Amino acid sequence: FAPQTLVGKRVIVTAGGTRERLDPVRFLTNDSSGKMGYAVAAAAQQAGATVTLITAPTKLTPPAGVTVVPIQSTTDLAQAVLAAFPKADALIMAAAVADFQPEVTADQKIKKTADNDEFILKLKKTPDILKQVAAIKQPGQVTVGFAAETQNLLANGQKKLQSKSLDLLAANDVSRADIGFNGDDNQVTFIMPDGVTDQTPKTSKVVIARALVDRVAQLFAEK
Ligand code: C5P
Repeated sequence: FAPQTLVGKRVIVTAGGTRERLDPVRFLTNDSSGKMGYAVAAAAQQAGATVTLITAPTKLTPPAGVTVVPIQSTTDLAQAVLAAFPKADALIMAAAVADFQPEVTADQKIKKTADNDEFILKLKKTPDILKQVAAIKQPGQVTVGFAAETQNLLANGQKKLQSKSLDLLAANDVSRADIGFNGDDNQVTFIMPDGVTDQTPKTSKVVIARALVDRVAQLFAEK
């Protein structure tokens, strides 16, 4: 890990699992702890970058010195990312973004009633933030995605990389209990646009974050 490689670069990191509200007291979310994204934010800062951490609620303390932008829903996250991206050099989307959100959010708490034994919740697709970013991305900007897959890691990863015009994708197999969502360790396969892949050993999220930041620095050197 080379410490001075991102000096002068403005890096946005997103982290945590989004919350999609049903009503004032209920939401849909996922198992993301935010650990991977927070580790990336810390590593980018240690490499000398100016870091903005756009984060869904987590139990973690953000690294000192990063600008923290708290968000809840995918819609909030999209707004925050699209506002910050034009002035950024890199965007690293480690957040676990919901794929679907409630079609309506009730203003008042949804009540059960005596005559209803079921409640049908209608969901609609969330906006794909990285796709929107791809549309405004400038040649000098680097974008990195994460992909949590339970099957066909490489094939799905390649497709994602292309459809979101990414410079790098970190794919991890979330079907494995020993790595991924909640733990301190992870194992990712870095997928590059030329089809080259590189699997890290199973190691701490801190070490993986540093490897990712080194790759981002390398991408700047190549642009
Ligand atoms: O398509 P999928 O959700 O698996 O892609 C994962 C990557 O895309 C992650 O980097 C995630 O943060 C990002 N994403 C996004 N907008 C969404 C869903 C995911 O930018 N609506």
